[in-house]
Amino acid sequence: MSTRAVSRRDLLKVSALGAAALALPFERVVRAKGISRIAESKLPKPFTVPFVVPPVAKPIRSDATTDYYQMSMRQVQAEILPGVGTDLFGYDGQVPGPTIMASQGRQVVVRHVNGLPAKHPRWSYTPWTSVHLHGSASLPQYDGYASDITQPGQYKDYVYPNMQPARTLWYHDHGAAHTAENAYMGLAAMYQLTDAQERGLPIPTGRYDVPLILSDKMFTADGQLMYEDKSHSGLWGDVITMNGKPWPRMPVERRKYRFRILNASLSRGFRYKLSTGEPMTVIATDGGLMGAPQQVSEIRHGMAERYDIVIDFAKYKIGQRVVLQNLGVKNSTDYDTTKQIMAFDVAAEPTDGTKNEVPSVLNPNPSAMGLTESMSTATRKLEVIRGNGEWSVNGVTWEQIVASGYRKVIANPAKDAVEVWEITNKSGGWFHPVHIHLVDFKILSRNGKPPRPEELGPKDVVYVGENETVRLLMKFEHQTGRYMVHCHNLPHEDHDMMTQFEVGTAGPDPMTAAPALPWTAGLKL
Ligand code: C2O
Ligand code: CU
Ligand code: CU
Repeated sequence: MSTRAVSRRDLLKVSALGAAALALPFERVVRAKGISRIAESKLPKPFTVPFVVPPVAKPIRSDATTDYYQMSMRQVQAEILPGVGTDLFGYDGQVPGPTIMASQGRQVVVRHVNGLPAKHPRWSYTPWTSVHLHGSASLPQYDGYASDITQPGQYKDYVYPNMQPARTLWYHDHGAAHTAENAYMGLAAMYQLTDAQERGLPIPTGRYDVPLILSDKMFTADGQLMYEDKSHSGLWGDVITMNGKPWPRMPVERRKYRFRILNASLSRGFRYKLSTGEPMTVIATDGGLMGAPQQVSEIRHGMAERYDIVIDFAKYKIGQRVVLQNLGVKNSTDYDTTKQIMAFDVAAEPTDGTKNEVPSVLNPNPSAMGLTESMSTATRKLEVIRGNGEWSVNGVTWEQIVASGYRKVIANPAKDAVEVWEITNKSGGWFHPVHIHLVDFKILSRNGKPPRPEELGPKDVVYVGENETVRLLMKFEHQTGRYMVHCHNLPHEDHDMMTQFEVGTAGPDPMTAAPALPWTAGLKL
């Protein structure tokens, strides 16, 4: 339950409801169930704000092997709600940040400058940062290790190898203890990795391949972001933003589209359904293309997971509206305003009819999915726990990792070892999307039963539901060194459900191999 004091505004709502609920228009009842303090008139009606796509990042230079980018994290004032200026933190001043487009075999280097203020303007913490490219098998010193921080006024160059198969990744802040606030303020963006195999498929591409970055927010009376995580339980906002816009409306053509859906919310899980009841086709998960597409009528989406889906608008008539709805998940606080996400308005015949198929085989060789349990050399048990007012993994917190000089680990697989990890959540009051850095895994089972159809692809986050044990199979390939494993409910992660494992014994030290440096304008990358 919320511990916040009951405000005068709440009292007004309560008395208005008690006295005249029947006479109230629908919207007023809806708002009474929300959490934002801003005037109702400042919230747009659903499906009135135009849909936008985040900008694509441009390299500052390229050479034979590498594309170089430079971005400055800045505080900006932007409009989420029409006509309302809200302070945000953006990569390159954008929320969501610019999408980075990468191809397998070409390295990317990103210089991230921390140009944020020395103190958060309202929450008064120091916004140090650590940038994590979620989904990349990066070296430990470029993985956004939480304590490898970059202070305001410093910069750090991150190197991304891009040797993995095509996938939808995202980069977001991971700074120790303030990941949740930093990500909530806007430090999150997409990164798309493609490869020849994917490019050879007849699936939608170009303007028919659309990023969908979801994030829920709540607003103060004066239009600023409100942060209320209910004693680190989670933050559940009543305003649903898609690519930074509330409940937008997107005109679409009568053909297939690929949507790369990223749930960048701190704590909100979603369950999607189309208002028409028609199925969606899942083609890729966190680690890239599935072996075969899966038709589903519902998708459950925990935080940080990516689901790439194809929706076919050819079956609708021009003028028809298809709403992406949210049926909600257990233990996310839903409001009436969170039951819908965005609308697709079928507006035109296709202007391009090519790349308009979903073949029955998408990926003949999805690496993690080819693993079998007989390859496994160890079974590790991880329990996600609430105890003594703290979140932990097996009773271990990040604080203990720090106290150990960053040496303490919960597992030490050899390089290229295959292992089974069993993650248990004994609570009925929480779900935990658990993320394991570095690896892609195959979900073997959930409480002894097969995973959901949308989970039948390579994953790096798994929804560990209430009273569930999930069994995962993974290979510790690509790198050696220490990597984090944590809950992606970010208030849980910050307080302090995060630990680490080490692959091999001789990997680079994430704290010392490439520390941040003081930033001087004009430094050449
Ligand atoms: Cu998306 Cu360790 O994070
Ligand atoms: Cu990650
Ligand atoms: Cu959690």
